[in-house]
Amino acid sequence: MVAGGALVAGGALVAGGALAGGATIAATRAEGTGERTAGTGTTPVASVGALVEPFHGARQAGVTTEPQAHAAFVALTVRPGTDRAALGRMLRLLSDDAARLTQGQPALADTEAELGLLPARLTVTFGFGPGLYRAAGVDDRRPASVTDLPAFRVDRLQPAWTGGDLLLQICADDAITVAHAQRVLLKDSRPFATVRWVQQGFRRSPGVEPGGHTQRNLFGQLDGTANPRPGAPLDSAVWVPDGPGWLRDSSTLVVRRISMNLETWDLLGRTDRELAVGRRLDTGAPLTGTAEHDEPDFAATDAHGLTVIPDFSHLTRAHVTDDRLKILRRPYNYDGVPTADGDADAGLIFTSYQADIARQFLPIQRRLADRDLLNEWTTPIGSAVFAIPPGCQPGGWVGEQVLG
Ligand code: HEM
Repeated sequence: MVAGGALVAGGALVAGGALAGGATIAATRAEGTGERTAGTGTTPVASVGALVEPFHGARQAGVTTEPQAHAAFVALTVRPGTDRAALGRMLRLLSDDAARLTQGQPALADTEAELGLLPARLTVTFGFGPGLYRAAGVDDRRPASVTDLPAFRVDRLQPAWTGGDLLLQICADDAITVAHAQRVLLKDSRPFATVRWVQQGFRRSPGVEPGGHTQRNLFGQLDGTANPRPGAPLDSAVWVPDGPGWLRDSSTLVVRRISMNLETWDLLGRTDRELAVGRRLDTGAPLTGTAEHDEPDFAATDAHGLTVIPDFSHLTRAHVTDDRLKILRRPYNYDGVPTADGDADAGLIFTSYQADIARQFLPIQRRLADRDLLNEWTTPIGSAVFAIPPGCQPGGWVGEQVLG
């Protein structure tokens, strides 16, 4: 536990106060690395709970934030009759909850105040679905690409995982922190909205691997290698640089629940698995390279004249070279209750952030739906789109530029 003063932990500076009754904790990361673990490659266990991500700022947290280990995606449906003023009241309340909980302070009237003291890099990110703009009568402030996606050949969408007016994306390095934040936010949204769906997901826990490692999905693949690089490439892919207040510093989010058939994937040999994606399972290197971040060579051919990275591979179909057309993937694994025979109910809560869904996400998804060998083992069963409105400053609330 962090006591007063400053604790230098594996290259990360944790400055803080005692974790008692509403004391604030602040933490910064090693300058410029984006890592919590620059030095030794491991995060001392006692520091994980105390780490804080900022809530206030021009842009919402939880998008370009280094992904936390646990996530709950909570989609709400606005109750009939909830108008612009009521939505404003709800978002004031929820922003206040998020501002406190993310900084390691209990929410107002928190019934389990002790659970609010270990933020573990908690972020709460608000997403607005098309229905929220309609309910508020502000459809002219909806980013144009935030509209229902076209149907894709591969889709087997279930209503239970599809749509939503308001998304609460709750992420932290601790599952209890996520559960508590979800409970607080749901209690405060109850007069205004009902729960449509909740999807819980996970990635590797902090300290399990050295910082900077790409996570693995439940097919065993390194997932996230070719995301846009931090800095200008990431910024230009994810954030809207200008425009009216409700648009500038906003983003968009596509959430797809994609079931992964672990049973039939198990039947494949290693070579076939690697050909399906175009990358090696152990290192994540493209089939034409040796290291994870080597540039794939799509023109390289083998002794038979066939391309080394097959045309039908996920890599070939999904590849984008222009930074402004890339998407930021921040996926979480899910693993539900198996059937009586032990068949897994597993997959990916695939999330894609981009400045514009139509310009960036749709062309990739169309190419994948058209011809991607991975489709043999994956099935989209849920889908939703949201605007990620700009962030807010202390005293403000998320959505004030849209609903205010
Ligand atoms: C369960 C479904 C999926 C699985 C298991 C999966 C897995 C992977 C893997 C292993 C890679 C290579 C490593 C990396 O760069 O991350 C990758 C790359 C990528 N995937 Fe997926 N993916 C899935 C769905 C999707 C979907 C739905 C999209 C977008 C519509 C997508 C877009 C991409 C992109 C843009 C890349 C990077 C390609 C590049 O430029 O090299 N993936 N995916």
